[in-house]
Amino acid sequence: MKTIELKPHLQLDMALGQALQKRRSNRDCQTEQLNEEALSTLLWACAGITDEDGRRTVPSTLDLRAVTPYVLRADGAWRYDAAKNCLEQTTDKDVREVSTAYQFDYVKTAPVTIVFVADKERSKTARPTGVYVDAGTMGQSCYLAAAAMGLAGCIRASFDHEELRKAMNLAEHLEPIVLFTVGYPK
Ligand SMILES: Cc1cc2nc3c(=O)[nH]c(=O)nc-3n(C[C@H](O)[C@H](O)[C@H](O)COP(=O)(O)O)c2cc1C
Repeated sequence: MKTIELKPHLQLDMALGQALQKRRSNRDCQTEQLNEEALSTLLWACAGITDEDGRRTVPSTLDLRAVTPYVLRADGAWRYDAAKNCLEQTTDKDVREVSTAYQFDYVKTAPVTIVFVADKERSKTARPTGVYVDAGTMGQSCYLAAAAMGLAGCIRASFDHEELRKAMNLAEHLEPIVLFTVGYPK
């Protein structure tokens, strides 16, 4: 399995009130690849480990931590391992286009889509809506980090979960549920 070690995340020093004020959905991204610090910071913001017991920047239903971010880029799909701060490749195919039901041009050219993937085995003791709430909080963390770094980002839910799961080469108990597409603003 191909692995990429990530750089340490940036210290985000924009005041929280300002980041909340600036948060917007912006779909006008450049095609240029995000730099490694920005990617690592977005991933830390939505799933970084912040305590010795493994708790994260975001809450999770029943503390199951059943939602994990994956990254779609031109060079494939990658699972974020927060403990090791690395990406593990699940396919080397560019599957960004499969992550939309109708926004093909925009989604295909935006450099990064973060996919929030629910582990249905891990979450089976929770209410079915729990993982969606988890993913929503992770999406908002991405929005705030993007605002603090001056990036253009948008949460998206219009896509075929099963088609994307297959394209990303994921096991059946793993379900992509929400996405965050991000890049440098035009
Ligand atoms: C659950 C959810 C699903 C969404 N799905 C999409 C989507 O598929 N495509 C898209 O372009 N925007 C999507 N959005 C973004 C909304 O269109 C956006 O948040 C809304 O227009 C308000 O704009 P703002 O985020 O700038 O306040 C979604 C937002 C949420 C919360």
